[in-house]
Amino acid sequence: MVGARPQFIKAAAVSPALREAGIVEQLIHTGQHYDYEMSQVFFDGLNLPRPAINLGVGSASHGAQTGRMLEKVEEVLLQWEPDLVLVYGDTNSTLAGALAPAKLRIPVAQVEAGLRSFDPATPEEINRVLTDHLTCFLFAPNKTAVANLQAEGIRDGVVLSGDVMIELLEGFLPHIEAVSCRLLDVLSLRPKAFVLVTVPRAENTDDPARWGSILKGIKAVAKEMAPIVWPVHPRVRERLATPSLDGVILLEPRPYLETQVLARSACLVLTDSGGLQKEAAFHGTPCLVLRDRTEWVELERTGLVCVAGIESQTILKRAQEVVQATSPATSYPERGEVPPSRLIAKTLATGLARGTRQKALR
Ligand code: UD1
Repeated sequence: MVGARPQFIKAAAVSPALREAGIVEQLIHTGQHYDYEMSQVFFDGLNLPRPAINLGVGSASHGAQTGRMLEKVEEVLLQWEPDLVLVYGDTNSTLAGALAPAKLRIPVAQVEAGLRSFDPATPEEINRVLTDHLTCFLFAPNKTAVANLQAEGIRDGVVLSGDVMIELLEGFLPHIEAVSCRLLDVLSLRPKAFVLVTVPRAENTDDPARWGSILKGIKAVAKEMAPIVWPVHPRVRERLATPSLDGVILLEPRPYLETQVLARSACLVLTDSGGLQKEAAFHGTPCLVLRDRTEWVELERTGLVCVAGIESQTILKRAQEVVQATSPATSYPERGEVPPSRLIAKTLATGLARGTRQKALR
């Protein structure tokens, strides 16, 4: 089950391994993201199988969006009678995709289980906690996520799988190198001489005080440090009062490969996205998180990622500090030997063979 940008990316890592393990996958797209640049471009660029069905839910308030998904997902599940539903991440599509099967006593598996920012004010944290408590197979990307689940009394079904987004990224490295020069030429950018910005999170865009402060910080970085490239989420376009900003190249949301080129070639990434902070760290590009906390605390501990908050002067000061530092404190945290997608597929294949459905019915 997918519906939003980060889920297409995670599914692109896992889908081939499911096929290889002999699991038949039918993809449901909730329709949470529907613009070409937010959805189809990822299916084209990442060789994701076409969804068997798109529920076309679209945008709405959180309750309405999640409720509409719940009703439509339930209808599909009643028709299809799947053995298991696999969900990804922490979006409203994740929660609806887990709650509908759980109510029908169909087992649920969750990729990226156990992450916690401990900030209950964000929709993603609510979605994460609830989804994890509905799930039979919990694939945790790191040890902190396993410990978080244990602290909430969840032990059964937890598998330390590693991070599928990093696995996908490693596979794409040769392609990133291949298109890098061309993209930077088109944008008239020099490697390591620009800053990449993305600020898609509702907790920032929908709070005028936070948004104002972040925008001030971004403008200060553009003025004092380096040109900025900012692919804007559709909602952000509405928040920007002017169609242009001094020293800032505003772009439509970029496809996966182009985003990775920009993250790898930038001297700094400023973001509130969960996925991009990991990707920046993997590329060895310093990253400031424009939030009060991050759920990727392992990266914070290595010094690759710094939580900067949203205060404009602090953003500029921390940005100058991390860019002037000679190199990141350490390299990306170690990964296991088995590719995460293969471990996930093998665990699910074994679970399905043992009659996972019976387990959920008990
Ligand atoms: C969702 C996830 C967030 C994730 C992000 C990735 C939730 C609660 N949040 O946030 O965790 O990081 O996806 O992008 O699920 N819009 C369009 N076209 C689209 C999609 C959205 O114009 O194709 C606009 C609409 O105005 C909509 C707004 O963006 O109201 C927000 O979209 P929504 O899907 O509700 O959440 P995201 O902010 O994208």
